[in-house]
Amino acid sequence: MLFKKNSIHLFIIITLLISCFHNASASPETIDIIDYVIENKSIIAPLGGLTGAPGSGRALVRNQNKGNCLSCHQLPIPEDDFHGNIGPSLYTVGLRFNAAQLRIRMADMKLINPLTIMPGYYRSPDSINRIAPQYEGSTILSAQEIEDIVSYLMTLKKESSTNSQRPPAKPEA
Ligand code: HEC
Repeated sequence: MLFKKNSIHLFIIITLLISCFHNASASPETIDIIDYVIENKSIIAPLGGLTGAPGSGRALVRNQNKGNCLSCHQLPIPEDDFHGNIGPSLYTVGLRFNAAQLRIRMADMKLINPLTIMPGYYRSPDSINRIAPQYEGSTILSAQEIEDIVSYLMTLKKESSTNSQRPPAKPEA
């Protein structure tokens, strides 16, 4: 009788152990984020080696479900009425920064200014606290979308004639 009881216990323990190991070996949720190397406050290599398309970048910055950049920035996009002024004007951003400096700002502005309110568009979901449910397990924008926006921003080199916004931040040395 004693033997039988022990063997039942042993059976339960082994079953539990197997299920533990089984769970541990199950692959975790994969997160589609390409690692990037930060050097001199820049990300020199295009994410995933991808090439950006400025036309797509322009559409993404206007799109309220994508960049929604106009809610905080002024951009040379006359079709849209509302241009916010929470962030600096981006009219001449292509003169003030190179692609590598823009890429780090687009990927994760917190790497430049930890207190910024600008969203981290290519920030690892692991490091985001209160993430909206639709972005759980992913970045806000894809690597291709970041490259598209960087290539669009690089074309912005002309001051606005009617710039009512506060002056842009000084570029970093
Ligand atoms: C919620 C507001 C907000 C949104 C949305 C936002 N930004 Fe920003 N952005 C800021 C603020 C504020 C700054 C000023 C820098 C800081 O906070 O450190 C900034 C700075 C920048 C800079 C650096 C400009 C400079 O002169 O230093 C770039 C480039 C930029 N944003 C691009 C974008 C683009 C492109 C988008 C959309 C994909 C975007 N931002 C969306 C708030 C925002």
